[in-house]
Amino acid sequence: MSSSEDQLNQHVPQHVAIIMDGNGRWAKAQGLSRLEGHKQGAKRLRDVIQWALDAGIKQVSLYGFSTENWKRPKLEVAGLMTLLATILPLEISRMQDKDVRFLTLGDTSKFPWLARKALEKAKNATAKNTTMDLILCLNYGGQQEIVDGVRRFCLSWDEAEDKAKTLAELSPEILYSFMQRDGVLPVDLLIRTGGEKRISNFHLWDAAYAELYFSDTNWPAYSRDDLTQALDDYASRERRFGKTSEQVQIEEKVIPEEKSA
Ligand code: FPP
Repeated sequence: MSSSEDQLNQHVPQHVAIIMDGNGRWAKAQGLSRLEGHKQGAKRLRDVIQWALDAGIKQVSLYGFSTENWKRPKLEVAGLMTLLATILPLEISRMQDKDVRFLTLGDTSKFPWLARKALEKAKNATAKNTTMDLILCLNYGGQQEIVDGVRRFCLSWDEAEDKAKTLAELSPEILYSFMQRDGVLPVDLLIRTGGEKRISNFHLWDAAYAELYFSDTNWPAYSRDDLTQALDDYASRERRFGKTSEQVQIEEKVIPEEKSA
């Protein structure tokens, strides 16, 4: 790879997280049921895999069902579960062809049996794929994820010989190791569709330094052009991670030169 290609790739986010919002509003505008909106949304979910692969993205995580979504009408929740159990098995062969690994985040233990079975099957079948990870976040909540990590840390602390030292040494890195989410990269770009400007309890930890992008397009109408716009916007931003702009510019000059040496 030439150094100019290398520089270009630094501007492609490795992990893109998407809040797929606006299914209900899209459906209402078309005179359709909310469930029809989710069905169309599921089709965009399928498209986004291809668009992300084409863009060279390594991980895409999608907010499919939040810990708060149980509060929706029972019929809508049941419809989402059925949709999941129906569409996922149909996607396995395509994920295999494209070398996509399917993962989940969140506690799906209370999902209906058929949905759990479909999730297990998709995860097992694609476990060895390496080109891109598709992470479906289901019964997922960023706060819950941190609470689960704290709980596991406390259990280990209880058994620690030097409790004071263990507590004094607790750091973000150590707590993260208790969050049990091997292989999930920090979120580089967080996109929310549907016009709202909220994070809604998604990736509270991993999105600490994510670039945020809000699109007015409702998720069922989301297009390749919409994603390209978000990626172009991302590529134009300077990511400073707490440093000054001058420091970042010096590093950007030095690193490609070191790589090409
Ligand atoms: C938010 O739109 C969308 C969801 C809560 C569900 C997302 C689900 C899919 C894209 C379909 C695939 C299904 C699963 C379970 C992965 P909204 O309903 O809040 O839209 P609104 O804000 O316009 O009402």
